Amino acid sequence: MSEINGPDKGLDQKYRRLDQIVDRFSAGRGQLIRILQEAQDVFGYLPEEVQAYIAGRTGIPVSEVNGVVTFYSLFSTRPRGRHGINVCLGTACYVQGAREVIEDFRRELGLKDGDTSGDGLFTVKSTRCLGACGLAPVITVDGEVHGRVSRRDVPRILRQYRKLHKAGEAAIDQKPERPAGDQEQIPAGP
Ligand code: FES
Repeated sequence: MSEINGPDKGLDQKYRRLDQIVDRFSAGRGQLIRILQEAQDVFGYLPEEVQAYIAGRTGIPVSEVNGVVTFYSLFSTRPRGRHGINVCLGTACYVQGAREVIEDFRRELGLKDGDTSGDGLFTVKSTRCLGACGLAPVITVDGEVHGRVSRRDVPRILRQYRKLHKAGEAAIDQKPERPAGDQEQIPAGP
C-alpha cells in the first residue's frame, strides 16, 4: 500500500491539478513524459495509484506508463528526500574513493534497503560520470556540484544541509559554506 493513501488532506487538490495537467497534454500520446514530469512535481513521486490514474485518464495502458516510469531515472516510485545527493561512481571518481564516500553517506544516514533517510531529508543515489573527472570524486547535492569530496567531508555536508533545513524553507535555497580549496564548481559545459 502506498503512502499516498494516507490521510492527506491535500490529496484531492493534487488529483485536481493532475486532471489539469492531463487535460493540457492529452492531445498527443508522446506527451506522456511531460505529464509524468509534472505529476511528479505535484505528488513528489509517482506511486502506482498515480500511474494508474494517468493511465485511466489518457487511455495509455498502465503497463506502458509503468514502463516509462521505471525506465527513466528521473522518475521515482518512492518518496524522495528533501535533499538529493548523487555520488558519481564513474571510473575516475571510483578510483579516487567515491565508493567509500557513498558508503559513508549511507552509513551516516542509516540507509539499508532504501535510498531515503528515515527523517525524509536525504536521498542518496549513485550516478554515472558527471563530466567533471578532474574534480574526482564528485558529488552533487540538490544539483550543486562538490568536487574532491573525501570521506571526512561526508558528516560536514550532512550537517550543513540539516542546518539549512532547520533554518527554514527560505534558507534551504542558500548555498552552504565551503572550505576554500576543498570544493570547486564545475565550469559550464559545452
Ligand atoms: S567519473 Fe566522476 S565525474 Fe567523471
